[in-house]
Amino acid sequence: MIPKTIHDRFTSAGIVAVLVIDDAADAVPLANALLKGGIAAIELTLRTEAALESLARIVSEVPDILAGVGTILTPEQIEQTVKAGAAFGVAPGLNRVIVEKAQDAGLPFAPGIMTPSELELALEMDCRTMKFFPAESSGGLSHLGSMAAPYLHREIDFIPLGGLNLENMADYLASPLVCAIGGSWIAKRDVIAAKDWGAIENAARKATDIFKTLKEKQS
Ligand code: 3PG
Repeated sequence: MIPKTIHDRFTSAGIVAVLVIDDAADAVPLANALLKGGIAAIELTLRTEAALESLARIVSEVPDILAGVGTILTPEQIEQTVKAGAAFGVAPGLNRVIVEKAQDAGLPFAPGIMTPSELELALEMDCRTMKFFPAESSGGLSHLGSMAAPYLHREIDFIPLGGLNLENMADYLASPLVCAIGGSWIAKRDVIAAKDWGAIENAARKATDIFKTLKEKQS
């Protein structure tokens, strides 16, 4: 469900900024601020009226950022997401109707899971890269390791989201189970609404520096 080309971009980006945008006019300056700070992937959530228009603007004007859509809760939203030009879609949960619709539409898609039963259902639908959500409140890395252990031979990996921050992101990124991490702390909704692009660029750079340091240690 997540092709190698997109998977490679998640791996090299390392961090996915989760965004809630209230005004589509903020979309392009926001994406540019993130990119300047080193963030190369976004999950633009379908939680506001401005979301799809924002995504379409980013896709056309900031093509260097890997732009996906999150909080996809209906089959219609899969169609809208594809139409807006998203590179991938994710959802907080695992919903067979949504996964099948994404497959039919050719949209690279990662469902959200946090239990072995959900993981098995995702595998049955040929999902190998999954969103691990909500990561921290469900037990964090320790829970992820225990949950995934019986399935490692199936070549799975995860994008943990929910409760991640500057303090815990390096631990997640160091796990072989993790292909990228994400969170909303880099560009909070109120900071976006205040158009504080400098603050967002700084927050992006702080997260990027942690990712880069880790990569240097591993190489
Ligand atoms: C998401 O939508 O992916 C999560 O809400 C992100 O979680 P966070 O707000 O705790 O970073």
